[in-house]
Amino acid sequence: MNYNSLVVRTRGFSLSTSRLRLVLIYGIAVFVSLFLFVSLSRRGHLSNVSIPYITGHRKTDLSLPDAPFISWPLARTCSETKWTPGVVFACNNNSGGIGNIRSFILTCVRYAIAAGATGLVLPQIETRSEDDLAHLFNGQQPFSYFFDEAHFRHSLHEACPAMIVYESFEAVPNTHDLRAEPLQPKAMGLRGGCDERDLNRHTDRFRQEFDAMVARSAAEFGLPTVSEQHPRLFQPVWGVQWEWPVAKDGPAFANTFGGLLRLRSDILELGKGIVAAMVKATESRPFAGVHLRTENDALSFWPAFETQAKEFLKTLTTKKLQAVYLATGNATEAGKLRERVEEHGLRVWTKDSLLQDQAELQKRLQSLTWDQQALVDFVVLLSCSYFLGVSPSSFSMTIAAKRHLATNDGSDGGIYTRPWPVNDIGDSRSRLVGNYAGHWDDWLMMYDALWP
Ligand SMILES: *[C@@H]1O[C@H](CO)[C@@H](O)[C@H](O)[C@H]1NC(C)=O
Ligand SMILES: *[C@@H]1O[C@H](CO)[C@@H](O)[C@H](O)[C@H]1NC(C)=O
Repeated sequence: MNYNSLVVRTRGFSLSTSRLRLVLIYGIAVFVSLFLFVSLSRRGHLSNVSIPYITGHRKTDLSLPDAPFISWPLARTCSETKWTPGVVFACNNNSGGIGNIRSFILTCVRYAIAAGATGLVLPQIETRSEDDLAHLFNGQQPFSYFFDEAHFRHSLHEACPAMIVYESFEAVPNTHDLRAEPLQPKAMGLRGGCDERDLNRHTDRFRQEFDAMVARSAAEFGLPTVSEQHPRLFQPVWGVQWEWPVAKDGPAFANTFGGLLRLRSDILELGKGIVAAMVKATESRPFAGVHLRTENDALSFWPAFETQAKEFLKTLTTKKLQAVYLATGNATEAGKLRERVEEHGLRVWTKDSLLQDQAELQKRLQSLTWDQQALVDFVVLLSCSYFLGVSPSSFSMTIAAKRHLATNDGSDGGIYTRPWPVNDIGDSRSRLVGNYAGHWDDWLMMYDALWP
């Protein structure tokens, strides 16, 4: 082998090496683009189904009225709790419509966990008078008047097995003729400098304050140390419903805790029946849901009919929404808004008009009370394409906040959704007409105490 042939051979070898490299690079490029193409084209398909091991809970639509209860955030909190046998909570002193009652029960259960209560009396629902809507204490109904009892018991047990739900005061063992002690958590701790409507800023100290109060009062009245043999019943007073700062528990807890209170199944079904009727009536076109809040118990500083009507129309026109589902508890007022909206070429339906030729559903709807019928609207308004409501109606606020969980806000939708924006614009799915200038006077602090 001479020098020349070596050069040639080496050159030949080096030539084939660079060709090989080219082929390799080309091959990798083809492979990578094929892979990208395949995975991108499957993505649309994938995003429609929930694949828990890929997406975690991000694909679970928590805005739906029958969304599954995701228990791990509550379970985590309960697993960190030191429980005190014999401490029992009752959450019966709620009142109002679904927004207020839901918030009362959730706040009360949240305090019960913070207190380490091993017992919870199944909450009763305070009804209101149908003749005088502002009369809010008209006698109590069982939990199932609004909510799914089996779902509540099961979900709470799964997340917080240490907390036992009792049917009634009397069902708590060893109570004899024990009376419920009113509990006012906001009064525990100094509140210097803030508006009385401010949230409870001392929730992180609540447990210490609560334990100290329990010990102090036992010493004062000569009671035995609280235990299973000597239980004590605590009843958070009316007013606690808008005071727990939900953000303190983190977004995962804040966005899932409300799932404990699912509406009872016949009401969910009725709501779905009305959504189906609406979809049919509008030939599957997008429809707006509007909550007109002008019933005679509306408070004077809330937006008046004129403001609501004008602002609703403005948004409906801008969003080019032609069909409207109208929810309100007053037929006269509904007629007024319908007339106004239809003048502009839009069409308006209500639950009653949609069920006109569905006798069976209509009968079921009419057998419900005023506040129960509002739950049916609640379901429909969660399901519409765009929602228009009123601030600070807790009914509207709860719907908007719950719908917000499906906005895929940022890259962390679902349980990690950031809170509802408290302004006149809202989000891509809802707007609440109202006054937003005064944090206290316009009751905006309620948004910080609301579990969607
Ligand atoms: C429930 O709340 C009302 C209104 O604040 C009050 O009058 C009543 O005493 C409360 N009842 C209990 C048992 O706390
Ligand atoms: C319904 O609205 C009319 C006025 O449009 C009012 O006179 C009446 O009190 C309202 N009723 C209820 C229950 O809100």
